[in-house]
Amino acid sequence: MSDKILVAYATRTRSTAEIAQAISATLAENGSQVEVRPIQEVTDLEPYRAIVLGSPIHDKKWLPEAIEFVRQNQAALSEKPFAAFMVCMALTMKNQNYHQMAVEWLAPVRRLVEPVSEGFFAGVLDIESVSSALHQSIFRVSVWTGVWAEGDHRNWEAIRAWASDLSDKLQAPKP
Ligand SMILES: Cc1cc2nc3c(=O)[nH]c(=O)nc-3n(C[C@H](O)[C@H](O)[C@H](O)COP(=O)(O)O)c2cc1C
Repeated sequence: MSDKILVAYATRTRSTAEIAQAISATLAENGSQVEVRPIQEVTDLEPYRAIVLGSPIHDKKWLPEAIEFVRQNQAALSEKPFAAFMVCMALTMKNQNYHQMAVEWLAPVRRLVEPVSEGFFAGVLDIESVSSALHQSIFRVSVWTGVWAEGDHRNWEAIRAWASDLSDKLQAPKP
């Protein structure tokens, strides 16, 4: 097996893709060989020593293709160090109860494969780029009522810190 780490992601409007790139860059700076790929391009996990997988949250869930990826690759992911991250807007909210709720959105992933580490990152809200009219309306109300604010809420320092900590966690072989 090679010494390569795969950072795979699902995305709709690229904010998760850019987080995956940042994670990959940090892992590489820490001496790992890394490949970053959208999950649609990943057909075989055999070449990788460890896998990091991320998805944005839509309607309180990972994107369907991301959870399907875990389901399809459950056996392979269970044998290797596997880390998961999610990107969402609830983590921008002041009320910490919403943060606790967001942590539970990874439960379906945990039930399939227990990650060695989990990353929770605030994302981007750009209402014009949202394809569904219904979601656009819901998000406009959220902005009017002060629940969410439009813009890029990604905390690159927190993302790099998680990735840096990950380097060690991905080294350890699965018990
Ligand atoms: C259709 C839709 C549904 C969303 N649902 C949620 C949600 O339930 N909870 C949340 O915190 N964020 C939600 N978000 C915010 C996204 O997780 C956030 O915009 C993320 O940065 C998008 O990632 P991407 O650019 O990689 O697609 C939603 C966004 C969209 C477009």
